[in-house]
Amino acid sequence: MKNIRNFCIIAHIDHGKSTLADRLLDSTHSVTSREKQEQLLDSMDLERERGITIKSHAIQMAYTYEGQEYILNLIDTPGHVDFSYEVSRSIAACEGALLIVDAAQSIQAQTISNLYLALENDLEIIPVLNKVDLPSANPEEVTDDIVDLLGCDASDVIPASAKTGLGIDEILKAIIERVPAPKGNPDAPLRALVFDSVYNPFRGVETYFRVFDGSIKKNQQIKFVATGKNYGADEIGTLKLKQFPRNEIKAGDVGYLITGIKDAREVKVGDTITDAEKPTTAVISGFEDVKPMVFAGIYPVDTEEYEDLRASMEKLQLNDASLVFQPESSAALGFGFRCGFLGMLHLEIIQERLEREFDMTVITTVPNVSYHAYTTKNREEAIIVSNPSDLPEPSTLDRVEEPYIKASIITKADFVGPVMGLCIEKRGEITNQTYLTTERVELSFDMPLAEIVFDFYDRLKTVSKGYASFDYSPIGMRKSKLVKVDVLLNANTVDALSALIHQDNAYHIGKKMCEKLKELIPRQQFDIPIQAAIGAKIIARETVKALRKDVTAKCYGGDISRKRKLLEKQKKGKKRMRQVGNVEIPQEAFMAVLKLN
Ligand code: GTP
Repeated sequence: MKNIRNFCIIAHIDHGKSTLADRLLDSTHSVTSREKQEQLLDSMDLERERGITIKSHAIQMAYTYEGQEYILNLIDTPGHVDFSYEVSRSIAACEGALLIVDAAQSIQAQTISNLYLALENDLEIIPVLNKVDLPSANPEEVTDDIVDLLGCDASDVIPASAKTGLGIDEILKAIIERVPAPKGNPDAPLRALVFDSVYNPFRGVETYFRVFDGSIKKNQQIKFVATGKNYGADEIGTLKLKQFPRNEIKAGDVGYLITGIKDAREVKVGDTITDAEKPTTAVISGFEDVKPMVFAGIYPVDTEEYEDLRASMEKLQLNDASLVFQPESSAALGFGFRCGFLGMLHLEIIQERLEREFDMTVITTVPNVSYHAYTTKNREEAIIVSNPSDLPEPSTLDRVEEPYIKASIITKADFVGPVMGLCIEKRGEITNQTYLTTERVELSFDMPLAEIVFDFYDRLKTVSKGYASFDYSPIGMRKSKLVKVDVLLNANTVDALSALIHQDNAYHIGKKMCEKLKELIPRQQFDIPIQAAIGAKIIARETVKALRKDVTAKCYGGDISRKRKLLEKQKKGKKRMRQVGNVEIPQEAFMAVLKLN
């Protein structure tokens, strides 16, 4: 055990986590050049395209230092707020963390939130100043920022470049010297933490674990504490780029486990694995059932594909346990599913996977958060509303609560005004303002989660000219004055376009929604009135004017190829449309309320 080091890398997005991990693997010769891909730890295609580490993995490296052989387990952490629970469990599996800070960007919101997670778990922090090769790097200033943040010595900060390889040896040495060896009792009953799992269509669910006490042996009968289920450990092993089966993995070490489980929901991140006969009495703390934060309806574009969609969703859920769904029907869209996601990124990923892996064309409705409604009949027990059209009749309502978050934004002093303005517009209440340096400010807000789901990120980027980073965590439910705003097309309510909106913003947003829909809904042979309403009261109105008969009429007859192009364009545009009553609604319209500005 004394020659094992378990560590993770924490960083703000794009500060160089994956590139640095790649370098560490290279320098420890953990990878042959044949196995090498551009970024090793990000194995899903989607991940590579988005440049975000979605699924965490663990990789073992060997390193010789002062004549002794060490095992270094690098536990990768996902880099997005949607997956912060997974980050926290990965961190709980380690004794140390490399805190990467970009020498040009300095400390950002995720640097701080990840650092807090690491400190809560008593991790030894090794600060790394990355990208010192950049002409725009500010090594002295950023080192000072890090020293201020951590209360460490400037000499503790390792200057590095994951690009040129500078500092990589120093980092490896620091991991050995500064990160404590794992502690634990090798003779106690098995106690291991599940920090991740990956679905493999051929072998079932692969569980990644860290052993704290005892050991796990091939063919041992094991128990997952939270789910209460027993399994045989069919295969265990360590992970390099490939899996290396072993007979035993002992206290302090990290490995993978295959039990033949075929459903991702049976393996819960944060669960404790123990021996089925001699279970541990000390279950690892911090387990939570992750709850979806954002909900949306997913409907097949072609109503006949409902059963196919159901089959695809079930398959997706087998390998993504955080996805939840249940059938729902909409007067406008027919049969589909109400789905719960960890956040907006997770929603986008699911939507993309449905299309790419399952070849489904779907309509996604306006995402919303989940509300608690209390009626005057029962003021104690909440009705969970994850679809705005399920809100009880206003006359029967006692109150409605919505989820709130604590938001942290780091920006330049110049942008404090506009950023505050935006947060207040989004119903935020400022709770703290700290000057990290004379140039950089951290602002803390309490605000409704629903406002983040809407266009918050884009707006923040605009008002801060890109100089703001943002992170958040949930802080519970709060009472709000919310009303349901409905949209009527051609006098028919389109239930899939309803949204719960704060009373004070309802008129403004209703008006904007109508304006936006007018832009997006294609003209047809007749006028299409678009109305926004609260109950029976119409609060805004626009009209999509009737179309002239032939789009090609504009082409002055002549050019055939141009005509054909136009017709093809028309055809393509049709693909993602949904006929509601006699009006065709394009997919963008369902998301329109998200981008009203
Ligand atoms: P996510 O996976 O999206 O969280 O990002 P990350 O933190 O893993 O960052 P990644 O390693 O993808 O690096 C982000 C960008 O910075 C890439 O374009 C890298 O090539 C670049 N980069 C990383 N390290 C260095 C460095 O030391 N110097 C320079 N010049 N560029 C670097």
